[in-house]
Amino acid sequence: MKVLVTGGAGYIGSTICSALADAGHIPIVWDSLVTGERSFTKAHAFFEGDIADAEVLEKILREHPDCDRVIHCAARIIVPESVQQPELYYAENVVKSLQLFEHLRRAEVNRVVFSSSASVYAESESFTVDENHPRAPQSPYANTKAMMEDILKDFARAHNFQSIILRYFNPIGAEPKHRSGPFVSNPSHLLGRLVAAAHKGVDFAITGTNWPTRDGSGLRDYIHVADLAQAHVAAVEKFDEVIRTESQPTSTLNLGTGSGVTVREFVSSFERVLGRKLDVKEAPARDGDNAGCCTIIDKAKTLLGWTPQSSLDEGIRSALEWDEIWSERTKQQR
Ligand SMILES: NC(=O)c1ccc[n+]([C@@H]2O[C@H](COP(=O)([O-])OP(=O)(O)OC[C@H]3O[C@@H](n4cnc5c(N)ncnc54)[C@H](O)[C@@H]3O)[C@@H](O)[C@H]2O)c1
Repeated sequence: MKVLVTGGAGYIGSTICSALADAGHIPIVWDSLVTGERSFTKAHAFFEGDIADAEVLEKILREHPDCDRVIHCAARIIVPESVQQPELYYAENVVKSLQLFEHLRRAEVNRVVFSSSASVYAESESFTVDENHPRAPQSPYANTKAMMEDILKDFARAHNFQSIILRYFNPIGAEPKHRSGPFVSNPSHLLGRLVAAAHKGVDFAITGTNWPTRDGSGLRDYIHVADLAQAHVAAVEKFDEVIRTESQPTSTLNLGTGSGVTVREFVSSFERVLGRKLDVKEAPARDGDNAGCCTIIDKAKTLLGWTPQSSLDEGIRSALEWDEIWSERTKQQR
């Protein structure tokens, strides 16, 4: 099957494209490269352009008229940037996605898998959420995800337009055959900061040590990006079945591992995989941080017939290996 992947030159989109190809499907990448990496698109049909540009979609569908489903990953994703420039995030993530959906609907491409985020959820006293947990997005970025979810639901009510909304928890690691991986030079997420500490000597601090978790540090659900990608393969393959089982045109699924890991536990695992201790400092929580949560994944397991396969250590090892490969590759390109 042919699957159009917006944002297919990005970290998650490129991993999804590799997984689709390995499963015998044909991914078609649509990406403006505004933040994406051109080299990740080499193995696939690639259309460079903005998701709001109807002419690009026309060209794609002229060349691939049998493409009838879309995985919509393209977005701006940096939370602090969204706080500083909300107008950019609402324009890029909401307005352009709305235009994309309208163009898709008119072209009768009416199956969309959407990249949403755990950041739409309100805090949970039990540190565990399922898909029915209330939403309370805390940043313009998270707000754009919640707004897109609502737009998709309204589209589905009004038109023949179905969607599977996938709320990702915290993706880690790289594509297993090292075809792509994390590529931002200044990572702000936990594993990226630890890799930078291990390989480049960048200072590392646990930010926030007074949360009401088992050891005071924040708790998250870290899912290997390869497992995340497999869930997308299942979502496009079982799209009609999922929608039928749900008896409604929009389905929302959480994608995580089902286990919460605190930052202190994560740092211990990282040091074990690395084989040495790091100089770990402690600092106050950053603006907008919260205690965090993990997810119940029963719904995704049942509807997608999917179970995450990789351990936390495998995710960490994968990120460390990829960082060496990527550093070497970018050094050679300079
Ligand atoms: N990385 C995470 O931790 C995380 C967590 C939850 C949800 N998500 C969601 O997953 C999706 C993919 O995230 P990622 O980490 O791969 O991000 P990324 O920045 O690596 O990839 C995003 C891709 O979208 C492209 N893009 C952005 N705006 C575009 C536009 N207007 N037209 C065409 N292409 C455009 C970029 O060039 C880039 O290649 C996003 O929707 C993000 O919100 C990510």
